[in-house]
Amino acid sequence: MELREYFAQAKAEGWAIGHFNFATADVLRAIVEGAMRAGAPCVLVGTSPGEAEFLGMAEAVALVQAARRSAEFPVFLNADHFASFDACKEAIDAGYDSVLFDGSRLAYEVNVIETQRVWQYAQTKRGSFMVEAEVGYLKGRSEVQTEVVIGRDDFTKPEQAADFIRRTGVERFAPVFGNIHGIVTKQEEVLDIEHLARVAAAIPDAYLVLHGASGLPDEQVVSAIRTGITNVHFNTELRVAYQRELKEELAEHPGQTTPYRYLQSADDAVRDVVEQKCRLFMAARIHP
Ligand code: G3H
Repeated sequence: MELREYFAQAKAEGWAIGHFNFATADVLRAIVEGAMRAGAPCVLVGTSPGEAEFLGMAEAVALVQAARRSAEFPVFLNADHFASFDACKEAIDAGYDSVLFDGSRLAYEVNVIETQRVWQYAQTKRGSFMVEAEVGYLKGRSEVQTEVVIGRDDFTKPEQAADFIRRTGVERFAPVFGNIHGIVTKQEEVLDIEHLARVAAAIPDAYLVLHGASGLPDEQVVSAIRTGITNVHFNTELRVAYQRELKEELAEHPGQTTPYRYLQSADDAVRDVVEQKCRLFMAARIHP
């Protein structure tokens, strides 16, 4: 099945596909194992521009293809928050399955034009390729921060979302409705589900994507899925779990120099986070 068909299925049945970021082969394997353990129908994995630069796009594509074959599980690769046409083109040419063109920091009209360019280029290359876009800048970074100030002015306007989808033709849309990137320690992250419902009503045919899900309570993620989100992105929670276990492992066994030994507990922690999240996305289903 193509990625697009999984999205259609998720939307029809009311569950969400997980998207998890990786920059190393062991984390990719842990993500795939977690999604499989949860019984998820598929998993979307992504590389941010920084992750893609560290790993290499060709390497990311090769690793995902290998994971797909060896696990016999549908794993799809997304270029996550790529912010220029050239970067998206590079990912499309390298063999990614999907791209989030992130023009949210551009002037609105420029975002429309650049998104159209990415979408048109993708169509000429592969019909199965999916394009996501973003209107409304999602603040924060995929790390632990004290606070990220966000107000209603930052939220995606439903009428602008409708105009954007009509003019660009993209299938997946990432709105801002209280979500931020990363985890905040001195602030409560609160989604505005009513605002999400207004965006969903304005673009009924688009697949809605929740970015910045790290740090959100499970109930809020479930509410978002039940209000139309079909794809949920996690990065920071995986990074935090990985680093915590790695630090503990190295502190306990300072003489251990074999990577596949000292990385094992960090990989297990990532796998467990992914399994828990994917179970949550499936449990949110309201239409059996
Ligand atoms: O695309 C990536 C996600 O939106 C990551 O957000 O670091 O808050 O989980 P997060």
